[in-house]
Amino acid sequence: MNIPVPTAIYAQRRARLADQLGRDDIAIIPTAPEHSRNRDSEYLFRFDSYFHYLSGFTEPHAWLVITGDGHSTLFCQPKDLEREIWDGYRLGPLAAPQHLGVDAAFSVAELEQRLPRLLENRHAVWYPFAIHPGLESRVSGWLNAVRARVRFGALCPEAQHDLCGILDEMRLIKDVHEQAVMRRAAQISAAAHVRAMRRSAAMLRAGQDVCEYHLDAELLHEFRQHGSQYPAYSSIVAAGANACVLHYRADNAPVRDGELVLIDAGCELDGYASDITRTFPANGRFSGPQRDLYDLVLASQHAAVAATRPGARFTDPHEATVKVLTQGMLDLGLLDKNQHGTLEDAIENRHYFAFYMHRTGHWLGMDVHDCGSYVEPSERGHASLRRDPLSGETIANRPSRILRPGMALTIEPGLYVRPSDGVPPAFWNIGIRIEDDAFITDTGCELITRDVPVQADAIEALMRG
Ligand code: GLY
Ligand code: MN
Ligand code: MN
Repeated sequence: MNIPVPTAIYAQRRARLADQLGRDDIAIIPTAPEHSRNRDSEYLFRFDSYFHYLSGFTEPHAWLVITGDGHSTLFCQPKDLEREIWDGYRLGPLAAPQHLGVDAAFSVAELEQRLPRLLENRHAVWYPFAIHPGLESRVSGWLNAVRARVRFGALCPEAQHDLCGILDEMRLIKDVHEQAVMRRAAQISAAAHVRAMRRSAAMLRAGQDVCEYHLDAELLHEFRQHGSQYPAYSSIVAAGANACVLHYRADNAPVRDGELVLIDAGCELDGYASDITRTFPANGRFSGPQRDLYDLVLASQHAAVAATRPGARFTDPHEATVKVLTQGMLDLGLLDKNQHGTLEDAIENRHYFAFYMHRTGHWLGMDVHDCGSYVEPSERGHASLRRDPLSGETIANRPSRILRPGMALTIEPGLYVRPSDGVPPAFWNIGIRIEDDAFITDTGCELITRDVPVQADAIEALMRG
């Protein structure tokens, strides 16, 4: 059962947005466009996250207009029996105010005619910059239409602002409703990972050929079975050496006995993403070298989790991860102590980057890589320059975001070992990532994806069952 959403939540969000606009300002938020796939087929429609955050409305061809005095207007598809016979039910402007709690609603066919009137006598217009191709020029067209009326006494907005900043800050802190949906999405995704792990071992035990797509099918089954609309991003199901390709997609490669499988997959539920990675032995038993690297990545994740708490910086979990991983690389001989020096040297010179080349997390929410500034807003002016030891580039560093209760983020260390001179061959082609989703709480963080085991022994026990 999906979680019911009271319309009051959306009304509260619109009111909070209106409070941050000037009283004479206006904000325009379109939903996403539909995209053609080929000939008559379209890609599955996914609404725009900002639009949905403020309206809860899932139909395409819709716009929301909010004024600084808190008045909201929806433009949506008109009722049309013939189109509804082909494409399905439309809410329509007549039912929209009662159903969605907006103050007024019109057919989207009236957008061109009504927008200039809505913009008239406003001080500033806000909309998401650089998200909707062509929106800037449409706003210009509407402003021109207002200008054509200035000799009759109309005032034309004199400023345009990016709406993303305000909405990103709102979306960064998840309210109680958002947390409930994200917890449910996380549960569904965890069950999907469990299902894929079990299927892999069961098929190999039965002597069947296993391909990556068999495990992808298990994920999809579990997502849809529990009401998730679709995966939150393209699932990665990577067997053996494919795990070292960071953006590998589930494909038709064989899953061989003795290899590891890396699955990075999460469902989207009612607009909210989950994002889990587990790495497990295809047959249910880690080999010695696989286990050595797995336990190292897990230890680095423990360190990251311990560093994820209110008052810490967003970069603290990454730094904690890098410290543990780099020490492990030196201990296991992935990095040669004679060549790379001490732990501090190897970190300072970013030598770990050969095996760990991504960040340890990102914001999570409606978008899997969710919106929100990674720089602490109150410290934006405090930039310091540093030279990157690998590229030689000079980079401006700004103080990283301070974590606060209600923020949601992933914690996802990894280790990817490609064949290379000087690297012990026992580790070649092993790719491992362990990714969990967390809420910042008052005292630390809560991992919401641990219904799928993460300890090597617990994974082996699950796969034996
Ligand atoms: N699945 C995308 C990520 O982990 O960031
Ligand atoms: Mn992630
Ligand atoms: Mn992921």
